[in-house]
Amino acid sequence: MNETATVAVVPGDGIGHEVVPAALEVLDAVADIEYVHVEAGDAVAAQRGTPLPEETLEAVSEADATLFGATGETSADVILPLRDAVDSFVNVRPARTYPGVDAVQPETDLVILRENTEGVYAGMEDRLTEDVSTLTRLVTRSASRRLAEFACDYVESNDHDGFTVAHKNNVMRVTDGLFVDTVREEAAARGVDVDEAYMDAMATHLAMDPAGYDVIVCPNLAGDVLSDLAAGLVGGLGLLPSANVGSERGIFEPVHGCAPDIAGEGIANPSATILSAAMLLEFLGADDAARDVRTAVEATLADGPRTPDLGGTATTDAVAAAVVDRLPDQ
Ligand code: NAI
Ligand code: MG
Repeated sequence: MNETATVAVVPGDGIGHEVVPAALEVLDAVADIEYVHVEAGDAVAAQRGTPLPEETLEAVSEADATLFGATGETSADVILPLRDAVDSFVNVRPARTYPGVDAVQPETDLVILRENTEGVYAGMEDRLTEDVSTLTRLVTRSASRRLAEFACDYVESNDHDGFTVAHKNNVMRVTDGLFVDTVREEAAARGVDVDEAYMDAMATHLAMDPAGYDVIVCPNLAGDVLSDLAAGLVGGLGLLPSANVGSERGIFEPVHGCAPDIAGEGIANPSATILSAAMLLEFLGADDAARDVRTAVEATLADGPRTPDLGGTATTDAVAAAVVDRLPDQ
């Protein structure tokens, strides 16, 4: 990170207003960043009639990166256009366990690379009659190839043996047929090993033996569902960060939503958002700062304090302060 980077900050709704400030405290301690604070989500929709004001779209489109919290019922109207605005073609979702955190499957350590622009999330839904509604599933060779290229770069630069592509081409023969064929071709051209798995069977294998997977490449909806499953294996949604990566910009956000059941109590686990901030730092080229943040989060998860979702009694702010305390002196 040579010059001061510009980061748009979108807390959103609910616990977004708790976990994003927590992550900013950590970022402030390790990096010199210029922030542009903007709003999006249910609350702003109620006030201004739109969940995604023009200045928010503009700020995210122009910033080097965005730190996003979570929005509520308006999420699809917010995060989908924002992902579009930064041309984010892949959503990177690592899921791993941490010493000190109870996990259903302690051996879990995987990364889901989710197609981020099309599939059944392309927004092509129709209500044809009182009785009939339809959804068009969009799969293009270009988006599938772009995802596969990213996956090949990812396994090469992070020293993975290869990846597993999840699909359902026995049923969605044309769309997942094109998806898998394209991914397979690209990997073969790059000399990267690919395993294949039907996404439903993968769900069972993930639940029973997640150590069998390392990097998973999958269509949009499958990635959404499988990453929430992975969150359940490692100790909950409070731990999973994500990166929406485009060629020049990125949006970094926890996998979880705005958690209305605990919003306002100050007890949300900020780890997912702080780890998303670490991914943001890495994206901006601040690798050392990213590593320091991850190490401090790991130490805090190991020794506490912990929020109630992890069996503790600490507040969001106390966890953030503990992470900041464990950063090396700058
Ligand atoms: P959710 O992720 O908000 O909450 C699911 C459960 O996990 C809740 O019991 C919640 O308390 C818990 N949880 C989530 N994050 C946590 C954290 N950091 N610390 C401790 N506990 C945490 O998902 P839900 O309840 O399905 O959706 C709530 C709202 O969020 C909905 O309006 C939904 O549309 C929206 N949503 C937004 C997303 C986004 O902005 N990208 C993603 C997912 C949901
Ligand atoms: Mg989700």
